[in-house]
Order: sequence, then C-alpha cells, then structure tokens
Amino acid sequence: MAINHPNFGAMDESRVIIFDTTLRDGEQSPGFSMNIDEKLRMAEALAALGVDVLEAGFPIASPGDFESVLRIAQSIKGPVITGLARSGSSDIIRAGEAIRPAERKRIHTFISTSPLHMKQKLRMEPEAVLEAVTASVTLARNFTDDVEWSAEDGTRTEIDFLCRCVEAAIKAGATTINIPDTVGYAMPEDITRMFTTVRERVPGADQVIFSTHCHNDLGLAVANTLAAVRAGVRQIECTINGIGERAGNASLEEIVMAIRTRPDANPYKNNIETTRLLRTSKLLATITGFDVQPNKAIVGRNAFAHESGIHQDGMLKDAGTYEIMTPESVGWQKTSLVMGKHSGRAAFRDKLNALGYGDIGDNALNDAFARFKVLADRKKIVYDEDIVALVDDEVVRSHEVVKFVALEVWAGSKSKPRARLELDVEGEVKTAEEQGDGPVDAAFNAIRALFPHTASLQLFSVGAVTEGTDAQARCTVRLEEEGKSVDGQGADTDTIVAAVRAYIHALNKLVTKRARSAPAALSA
Ligand code: KIV
Ligand code: ZN
Repeated sequence: MAINHPNFGAMDESRVIIFDTTLRDGEQSPGFSMNIDEKLRMAEALAALGVDVLEAGFPIASPGDFESVLRIAQSIKGPVITGLARSGSSDIIRAGEAIRPAERKRIHTFISTSPLHMKQKLRMEPEAVLEAVTASVTLARNFTDDVEWSAEDGTRTEIDFLCRCVEAAIKAGATTINIPDTVGYAMPEDITRMFTTVRERVPGADQVIFSTHCHNDLGLAVANTLAAVRAGVRQIECTINGIGERAGNASLEEIVMAIRTRPDANPYKNNIETTRLLRTSKLLATITGFDVQPNKAIVGRNAFAHESGIHQDGMLKDAGTYEIMTPESVGWQKTSLVMGKHSGRAAFRDKLNALGYGDIGDNALNDAFARFKVLADRKKIVYDEDIVALVDDEVVRSHEVVKFVALEVWAGSKSKPRARLELDVEGEVKTAEEQGDGPVDAAFNAIRALFPHTASLQLFSVGAVTEGTDAQARCTVRLEEEGKSVDGQGADTDTIVAAVRAYIHALNKLVTKRARSAPAALSA
C-alpha cells in the first residue's frame, strides 16, 4: 500500500526525503554555533538547494534557539520546518510554538531506548519509556499532523523493545520513525538487519516513513545511510559537509552524489539541485570558519584536481578516465575567472545574483563593491570564490557595533612589530598604536586598547580562499568570556587585516550575546 504522508502526499516508492539537520545536530558541535542571521542565511541556501525537511533547531535549548526556529518558520518557504523536542511536555509545547508560523511543519520528538541510555542517562524503566513514547507523540500531534519519533541510540537497542517502541509511536500518530545510529557504532549489515526486522514485525509499519540518522564515529555514516535506504528507509537525515556531534553526521553532498552517480545500485529519486552543493558547502564554511579538508569528497579543494602526469594525460584524452562525475554537476566551474577591476556596480550586482545572493541591501552592496574594487586592484585574478568570501564577510558585518576602518603594520626580524589600527566604535573613529610578539599580536593588542574587554583568545586559524600567493586569507578567531565562546571570520588579501576582521567579528558577536543576557552591560 502506498504511503500517504501529511506533508508529502502519496509517496512514490523510489522517492527519498532529504532531511537536513545542519542547523540542529550540526550546529550543536563545538565551534559550529551560528547566530540567528547566519542560521537564516543557511536556511535560505538549504531551501534553494532543495532539502525536503529542514531541522531548524532545538527550541527548548535556549531563547536564541527558539527565536531562530521561529524566524525560519516565518520566512523560509519550501521545506517542511521542524524543531527538535525531548519527550517532556514543555519541550514539545515549545517546539510547537516555534514551528507554528511555518507553511509546512513537523515536530521531531525523541527518547533513548537502549539499555545503557535508559539506565544510566534517563534512569527510567523500559515501561516508563514506552509510556513516554505514547504521551510525547500524542501531545505533538496537537500541534501538527506531521510528527517524527526517534529512538535515540536505536542501533544499540534490543530489537524486541525497539519494535514495541516503534509500534507505540505509530499507534500514537507518528508519521515518520527515525532509528538513529547515535554513536556511529553500527556496521552496514546491522543497519540492514535492524530496519528489515522492524519493518517486517511492527504492525502499521507500511503506513509510515522510516528514517535513518547515522553518526560518523567509525567513518561509516554514508555507507550505513545507503544500507538503510536499500532496506526500505525513505528519509535520510544528513548535514552539509557532514558536520555534527563528535565525528559528525552523514554528509548530504556525499549521499546525494552517490545516489546520482550510481543509479544502478541506488535507484532512488530526490529533489536536490546538485549544482548548488559546492556553494552551500562554502557558505557553511564561511559562516562557521571551518573549511572542509582538501580531500573531502565532492566539495574538497582537491576533489576534482589531477596532479600526477599519468592522470593528467588520461584526463586530456577522456575526463571519464579519472572522473566519475563532472565537477560542474556539483557546482565547480570550469573557469570561475569572471570579474576584473573594470567591472562596474551593475555587473557586480548581476554576479551576486548569479552566485545565488538575493537582495543583500544597498549598504552591504555598496560596501562589498568598494572592497571588490580594492581586491581587483590587488589581485591578478578575481574568482567567484573570492567574491563569495568578500560578500559573506560584508553581510555578516552589517549590524556591527565595532567596525574595521584601517590598519598599518610594521613587522620583520629587526624591530618589535607594531600596528596602528583605526576602528569605528559606535560611530566614533578611534586610533591606537600597539606593539606585540608578532604583527597579529600587535594588531590584536590595538583592538584591546580601542575596545577594552576581558574575553580571552582561544583559537586563531588561517586558511586560503583560493590558490596562489595573492589569494585572500580567511581567518577564524574564537573568543571566550564567562564560559561563552564565539567564533568570528574575516577575509582579505592581507592576512593581518583578515585576522583583525575575524577578531572584530567575534567581538561583535560577543557584544550581541552580552546584550541578550544583560541589556545593561552593552559597553565594554
Ligand atoms: O543522534 C541522535 O540520536 C540524534 C537524535 C536526537 C535524533 O541526533
Ligand atoms: Zn544525531
């Protein structure tokens, strides 16, 4: 019998729902936190990418999480918007309030079902867990017809008890049953066996969508996900760049391209616009400050690079010799050399449209264009990636209390490095000159002199946006104050300027955080 899903209607047997949890499981991992504006930008990009379900956050976790789920529910059209909730009624009510404005909505509720989690974490008897399953799903159905229930640590759950829980969830009205490999422990055969058994044994299993959510602790998340789909699962939970708790979740781009590249082994359909994969991955890297490793499948810098003579020779004769998919099919461009110092504002605006930016506002456009002109003067070749880094940098900065104005540094092996920095602090331009152990240290000391604060520097990293010595540097700075940590990013052809921009970005985030928790403590 075909499944009739409240949000997806009559489901074609070969259709796989792509459930993205970048903004929930992904955002939960250390260093990957995003503010509301950043989450909204990511949500827009995920909607344009074509994800079916967008897990926007965990509304009970904090007022900021609640607000971001609410804002995404209000403004993002297309995907089903879901919020996560434990089994308690306050979690579910909060999730229900956060998703209320969405055109298409879902509540995702979960409880642990493995012996270890029930005993040590929940300190609950199995019968009490079963009751909680029924109560949580029943309550969630008051907010929406689309309710997903998850068995946390499902792959380490005794199969008989798992079947009883799934049966209880279906009876209470769950429309999607997710069985996660929470700790990334399962082998593909375990996944096949588990889903086959549950689907065969549980009454009503043919009326719900089964879902898989695999963590990558043993590097098996994508393999396990594909095994689940072959065992009849029709929803895949995954994240951009595979981010997520510990070693991360199954990577969306890898799963989607495995399905597309090997239809003989994976005859399934989905709605992902694969040419947007690279730019979505890059946007996430820009927002979080963490690039993927160069050899990362699909979106890594080397994923389509051919260095050895033998490979290059093969590629020149027939690209199929060493490429199983085209770089263009995932968004790499043959030549992304596009703009130069003679390009005007209108061409720049057109370029932004082509790169998938909507209206970024006149102020951000003017500032980004001015920086583009400076960049085009300094850099021989301006790539799309440079423009993306520059515009993302500008958009992130539109509401700053502290703004970068100018920097001069004196460095080298002879004298102590010095930096003279000009900052706009709440509308007033101030200058400071400081020394340091290196030019970056001197510049950071100048920031501290102009905007005194107690936050400590936890991390400073530098990467390159493109290749060559004239490439833009992309820096990440992590600051910590009273147990709260924030990450800032900055890009520029000058590494020290990029570092200062990243520091100021982090500082502005900290000011926003402080203002939220104690409105009186706005100034430094
Ligand atoms: O890994 C996990 O079990 C989860 C659930 C909350 C779905 O993230
Ligand atoms: Zn998870």
